[in-house]
Amino acid sequence: MTVTVAATTPSSTACDALVVAIMPGKGKSIALAAHGLTTAQGNRILEAASAVGATGKSGELTVIPSPNGFAAKKIAVLGIGDFMKQADLEELRSAIGSAARALSTSRKIALVTSPDPDHVIATALAAQLGSYSFTAFKGKVKQKATSAIVLLVPKPALDESKKALATAVVLADAVNLSRDLVNTPPNALAPADLAAAAERAVEGLPVEVTIWDEEALRRDGCGGILAVGQGSANPPRLVKLEYAPAGAEASLAIVGKGITFDTGGISIKPAANMDEMKGDMGGAAAVIGAMQAIAKLGLNIKVTGWVPTAENMPSGTAQRPGDVITMFDGTTVEVLNTDAEGRLVLADALGMAVLDKPDLVIDAATLTGAQRVALGSRTAGVMANDDNSRALVCAAAEQAGEAAWPMPLPEYLRASIDSPTADIANIGDPRGGMLSAGIFLREFIPAGQAWVHIDIAGPSFNDKAPYGYTPKGGTGSTVRTFVQVASTLAAE
Ligand code: BES
Ligand code: ZN
Ligand code: ZN
Repeated sequence: MTVTVAATTPSSTACDALVVAIMPGKGKSIALAAHGLTTAQGNRILEAASAVGATGKSGELTVIPSPNGFAAKKIAVLGIGDFMKQADLEELRSAIGSAARALSTSRKIALVTSPDPDHVIATALAAQLGSYSFTAFKGKVKQKATSAIVLLVPKPALDESKKALATAVVLADAVNLSRDLVNTPPNALAPADLAAAAERAVEGLPVEVTIWDEEALRRDGCGGILAVGQGSANPPRLVKLEYAPAGAEASLAIVGKGITFDTGGISIKPAANMDEMKGDMGGAAAVIGAMQAIAKLGLNIKVTGWVPTAENMPSGTAQRPGDVITMFDGTTVEVLNTDAEGRLVLADALGMAVLDKPDLVIDAATLTGAQRVALGSRTAGVMANDDNSRALVCAAAEQAGEAAWPMPLPEYLRASIDSPTADIANIGDPRGGMLSAGIFLREFIPAGQAWVHIDIAGPSFNDKAPYGYTPKGGTGSTVRTFVQVASTLAAE
């Protein structure tokens, strides 16, 4: 995919589809929200779109034949609603994303873009995210896909737009990488493959990579990662990605659940939709994407990414309900349900991450079905041991355009993870299952260490129809939130 900005006029730009924005006008009419067209050209487009019912509402796409004098093969007239009044960037991203999806078989798309740098970033990001497709495993069936996106801006804005574009490309590449990892079939992405993918993602960037194999995990006492992985023929791994630019004062650790396939283990899951559990490494994919973007953007903050990864399989060597395991920090855990495995691998990684005493630790995990019950498929649940940090992460998510909502960790739930045998059990009160999972994770955070937990069970994988810039399957959830948090902390 090539993404560029140009200052050619819309009519002279050769492309398969030229995207021109419109908005509702006075009464039932529509108005142009695009520069660079002559009055006559604009009117012709408005008349043609109007004639086939265009209203200008956000996300509405009306494809019309290219008028004489246009080098484009067709014109895609895109409604952006009241964006010019409200300036809701997420609404713009969503509209552009829908357009890019609808035009995904057009090889070259040109978009007439407002020169405001924020609009350029939003447009370039959403166009790349919307034209995403996952074709690596298509054998005989090959589809045409968008391979070039051009943003048309007025000449005076060209240089500034190029800078804005560069940021958008870094973000989009990171989100799309994260989507690819989630979409990759589980037989092609075992823990060792995920570790290799993490290494590849930051190749050539100032990021140091350390990978723990089984032997190293045993040496260091990572009992959670080992227990979850012991039923699989594909051994577990732990990956550490360190970005530490000279002179950076702030520090952040991001941790992502990396279960490459979650059968539930001996507490096996029902067959229906189990294939979606290839996406149980969505948190890890977010960490990997974010580390790449943060390093490419050169943010002035030390960021350490942690990816504990295992395959949760039932077998003769799998852990049993009732087993007691010892985590990295010495906590003993009675495993009452082997399907509550994410918290076990996270416990080890969190235990390691806090040793560096970063300003903030954030984990992202497809942790509980209860998250989807509580907040639905699109909104992440944000829990924390510190109100300010939780607010900071929610604000960053909002700014990045990712739906997230603060959730409590009620103290009374702590008793529900008591175990008669070990220090704690790995399941607690199922009423508020997202919260009791958070309460479990909190056990591995020492007093005084700020920590935020994001449950992305719903948002990380879209099992329904695509919408806006979000495709079916892996969504790349939390990459942009992580990057925004890093950038917020770097600026403080
Ligand atoms: N990976 C699942 C959670 C999940 C469910 C993610 C649906 C995405 C979609 C997790 O490991 C799990 O199975 N959690 C159990 C916990 C329970 C046993 C306490 C759950 O939510 O049922
Ligand atoms: Zn599970
Ligand atoms: Zn899981």
